[in-house]
Amino acid sequence: MTLHITPSGQACGARVTGIDLTRPLDAATIADIRAAWLDHHVLAFPDQRMSDDDLERFTAAFGGFGDDPFIKPIPGREHVIAVKRRADETAPLFAENWHSDWSFQAHPPAGTCLFGITIPPVGGNTEFANQHTALDAMPADLRARVEGLQAIHSARGGYAPSGMYGAKDQGRSMDIRSGDEALATQRHPFIRAHPETGRQGLFGCAGYIIGFDGMDDAEAVPLIVELLQWQGREEFRYSHAWEPDMLVMWDNRSLLHRATGGYDGHDRLLHRTTIAAWEGQA
Ligand code: SIN
Repeated sequence: MTLHITPSGQACGARVTGIDLTRPLDAATIADIRAAWLDHHVLAFPDQRMSDDDLERFTAAFGGFGDDPFIKPIPGREHVIAVKRRADETAPLFAENWHSDWSFQAHPPAGTCLFGITIPPVGGNTEFANQHTALDAMPADLRARVEGLQAIHSARGGYAPSGMYGAKDQGRSMDIRSGDEALATQRHPFIRAHPETGRQGLFGCAGYIIGFDGMDDAEAVPLIVELLQWQGREEFRYSHAWEPDMLVMWDNRSLLHRATGGYDGHDRLLHRTTIAAWEGQA
């Protein structure tokens, strides 16, 4: 199999053809995909008529399944969740704020796979922001303020009973289960080396980051907001346009991502798995 890789021309992302993901992949092909993934951070594979079995086999080939809290898997599957929205749904969009998936975990997932099933004719792009380039281009004075900081991550703003997807969240078609375990906190260096490539980048952002070790909130909160404005700048972004039967895999260790709307009146459905932390990841 010869992979054809076409970079997006934006800050990250590439389209990959010349492969059939409904069949098991050999070790050489898995290694080629992994190398392309580490180079481009987001890979989109169009025209893949994948079943949930295929999605699970693909995920397993890249490191096994991550632990997905708070969202009930689809019936009959332990590791597949549905990212969905009905045409008439009015609840706030799921995952509309920049984030790195489950960064509040001790070992957050290396990557995420998302397979497009029902794709609206307009809107619904997923945006990505490259956190290596965000660090490389960061002004020296801002960098000096974050050098060496340990960020405090928590799921509380989203998934605690008082959070965005908690008790007051009504009319959502996704099966989200908030809980007190979302109050837990976890520290990660804000500037850190990518566990596989060693390249320095920024990890996580406002939302799951709720503070910095040893800094009071009066200083930390405005800094987190200022950082978010930097991290999501246009020049670090790739806006991904979906197609039905398209698989996308992204690297949570080098990117932030967010969902976008603009498809009111249309259904949207994608199946998602997470790829476990890479063996050896700190
Ligand atoms: C996600 O963050 O998993 C969902 C992204 C999207 O719906 O575009």
